[in-house]
Amino acid sequence: MSVVGIIGGQWGDEGKGKIVDLLSEKADMVIRFSGGPNAGHTVINSHGEFKLHLVPSSICNSHAISLISSGVVVSAEALLDEIDLLQRSHVAVSNMFVSERAHLIMPYHILLDKLEEESRGGSALGTTLRGVGPAYEDKVARRGIRVGDILDRDNLIHRLRIALDHNNTIITKVYGAAPLSLEDIYSQCCQYAERLAPFIRDIEPMVQEALDSDALILLEGAQGTLLDINFGTYPYVTSSSPIIGGACIGIGLGPTRIERVLGVFKSYITRVGSGPMPTELMDEVGDIIRERAHEYGATTGRPRRCGWFDAVAGHFSAQVNGFTGIVLTRLDVLDGFSSIRICTEYRLDDKRIRHFPSNSSVLERCEPIYEELPGWTGSVSHVRRFQDLPAEARTYVARLEELIGCPVDFISVGPRREESIVIRPLA
Ligand code: GDP
Ligand code: IMO
Ligand code: MG
Repeated sequence: MSVVGIIGGQWGDEGKGKIVDLLSEKADMVIRFSGGPNAGHTVINSHGEFKLHLVPSSICNSHAISLISSGVVVSAEALLDEIDLLQRSHVAVSNMFVSERAHLIMPYHILLDKLEEESRGGSALGTTLRGVGPAYEDKVARRGIRVGDILDRDNLIHRLRIALDHNNTIITKVYGAAPLSLEDIYSQCCQYAERLAPFIRDIEPMVQEALDSDALILLEGAQGTLLDINFGTYPYVTSSSPIIGGACIGIGLGPTRIERVLGVFKSYITRVGSGPMPTELMDEVGDIIRERAHEYGATTGRPRRCGWFDAVAGHFSAQVNGFTGIVLTRLDVLDGFSSIRICTEYRLDDKRIRHFPSNSSVLERCEPIYEELPGWTGSVSHVRRFQDLPAEARTYVARLEELIGCPVDFISVGPRREESIVIRPLA
């Protein structure tokens, strides 16, 4: 077996979906291990263009088993919508399974996500409003409903009563909103159960079997390291662990089994939602990047905040994950800039610092210190070999390797599967 993690190195939307679609051509199993339908992973290949929220980005490679593991929070409605959409596009979903242990996002989680965000006013986190945070809250509080629970109606009604009693108290007493009905949610769950049953499995033995064979297994990260609940820009983070450690916990995988950990980085940086972002460009350069790269969220359609590559954050991300290699995406977006900036240090008050602060209010005060590199003319989209990139692009890549602290293994030069440069292949 060979296990390879594919992890967002920034604030999400680095192009993980595209890379998983590419690398899963050769994989036997691909596992989503954290997050939920807050993710939006774009894959573009001969089957069409898909924005996947829960279904692993390997789904168009039907030989690979696509798994949603116990660390993911699943909206049955969102998953069924996605299955329908894929089937309408003639993409086979018969090799996709969801863990009995994964927790379900319920209607009260979605309502609470909205009520909590509204109550935060000017300090709102800018969540995706998919109910992900409240679903993880119930999981940790041990009142969550798991995917396997919906297959046993007596157990379901019992667990649902406990969860809804608690959540309705908050909905009505804290937020003054109308309570949700147990009967409605129960009957909805029973309908979902019928349709989801063929996909629900005890997937852990499947994973162990693959680990004991010579299978190539990919671990598909969602979100990004800077949104991690422990190491991200708290409280402007998501409620799970998108880092490689999250894969061990979310799958039931020993860390010693992981051979390579690839950090996916855009050639610049974006963020959607609130929170500090030292290299954010509020000028026309930011607008040029946003429009040229169509930087609008795959899940919510919100405009993404754009900035130059932040190598202080990138280095931190590599340390937290132990990246063995980088996947550098969207290099084509930098085509034609006369010069390109990289943030190599921060200025904090009158000091220069190289470490990523743990406190968001400190990060908010950090000013980027830039190094300027020459840009290149012409387009890199058609390039398929590293040595064919313009010299300035190669210099840019080499400088990022130095600053992040590991080699670039893959470069993406366009959204389609084939628009890629492979430097160190998987097998
Ligand atoms: P993910 O959440 O990490 O999977 O990334 P998203 O799918 O949310 O956002 C990445 C966006 O960049 C999508 O629209 C992709 O189609 C697109 N994309 C991925 N790689 C490249 C690339 O190398 N060049 C360009 N121009 N677009 C890319
Ligand atoms: P992918 O997998 C970018 C952000 C939200 C918000 C914060 C908390 O496509 O890279 P949540 O709904 O998780 O409680 O929101 O996290 N966020 C993402 N940003 N890409 C994502 O996923 C994201 N998933 C969550 O915008 O700032
Ligand atoms: Mg995305």
